[in-house]
Amino acid sequence: METAIILKIQDLARGGAGVSRDSDGRVIFVPFTAPGDLVRVRVVEENKRYAMAVLLEVLEPGAIRQAPRCPAFGTCGGCEWQHLPYEYQWKTKSEGVFDALRRVQVQPPEHYDLIPAERIWEYRNRVQLRGFKNELGFFRSGTQDLVPVSRCDLAREEINQSWEAVRFEGEAYSSPYKVELEVSTQGALMKTWNSKHSAQGFRQVHDEQNEKLRGWIAEQLPPAFQLFDLFGGGGNLSLPLINQMREIHCVDLSVPHQRAPEIPAHFHFHRSSVLPWLMKHQSAGSRLPAVAILDPPRVGLGEDFSKIAQSLETLGVQALVSVGCDLDAWCRDLSRWVKRGWKFEKMMVIDLFPQTSHVESVSYLTRFV
Ligand SMILES: C[S@@+](CC[C@H](N)C(=O)[O-])C[C@H]1O[C@@H](n2cnc3c(N)ncnc32)[C@H](O)[C@@H]1O
Repeated sequence: METAIILKIQDLARGGAGVSRDSDGRVIFVPFTAPGDLVRVRVVEENKRYAMAVLLEVLEPGAIRQAPRCPAFGTCGGCEWQHLPYEYQWKTKSEGVFDALRRVQVQPPEHYDLIPAERIWEYRNRVQLRGFKNELGFFRSGTQDLVPVSRCDLAREEINQSWEAVRFEGEAYSSPYKVELEVSTQGALMKTWNSKHSAQGFRQVHDEQNEKLRGWIAEQLPPAFQLFDLFGGGGNLSLPLINQMREIHCVDLSVPHQRAPEIPAHFHFHRSSVLPWLMKHQSAGSRLPAVAILDPPRVGLGEDFSKIAQSLETLGVQALVSVGCDLDAWCRDLSRWVKRGWKFEKMMVIDLFPQTSHVESVSYLTRFV
């Protein structure tokens, strides 16, 4: 087993870990540390350019370190930044976006909005818990070891209030179980036992921040005949635009099972993978002026990028919004749009996940036609 070493943490990586260097100048990442901390760590993974270490002990806390609010912080596999003041979290996230743009050589636009969260605790409307016998909690990061907890400071109060009752209900299962708890938009608690992640369909976890995201997107996109809401889920991002568009096509592998009665007839759900749907729609003919929203999962558009971009251009898309929950994937797609001749007009960086290193980035792009 590797021996313990003592390090001074110098910086914070946008990926979440504290950063130090060994005597050869090699970078060492140590999760759950803060700049200024003097720590004892054990190196657990070594590469040529960097190493990963686990924190054994904080010998002297740095000036910015704060006491984490949750007793399971560092073990439950959830948030990684409770030991940092929120202002420092947000600074690291927002500066990280500009840094990532520099790396892919994309010039940030003149106009951008940086939107930190006001509600930084008890914001999550959905959590996935694990349980067995009389224990309920989360899996330790990267393992299937259950870390029992009696509440989660990131979860909405409605979830925490039902914790004991859920634990009691779970005792009826004879084997390990998972349960997803979600607070509906009307404030009711929904429980889904032993089902896949986001069984009720994808929903942004921070309702207030989600409203700001929707508002920003609605402000950017000009009225058009058609709006393609790709990876659109239940239409979260396109529904605010119903009065500005002649037709809306919301395409997702998982669309709502039931159509809400207030959704007007010109809003169409398509349960499909994005690329085949675009190919089919393209061959059907219409070339009316159009706009698009793209909100793919963490991998971004990946290897489908060129085909999706080609289809949207053929369909007459003149402006689009690209939303990304993974900064590197979002930057990769953005640099490809710019290389294709799209203009990066505006950007928004928004915090949908306080106490974690995740950041949501949004670009507004237009095309010269
Ligand atoms: C980040 S979520 C965005 C959902 C929606 N825009 C919202 O704000 O609620 C990504 C969505 O992509 C969908 N998805 C993943 N791969 C897909 C694919 N190949 N084609 C269509 N939808 C896909 C998922 O079902 C999920 O709803």
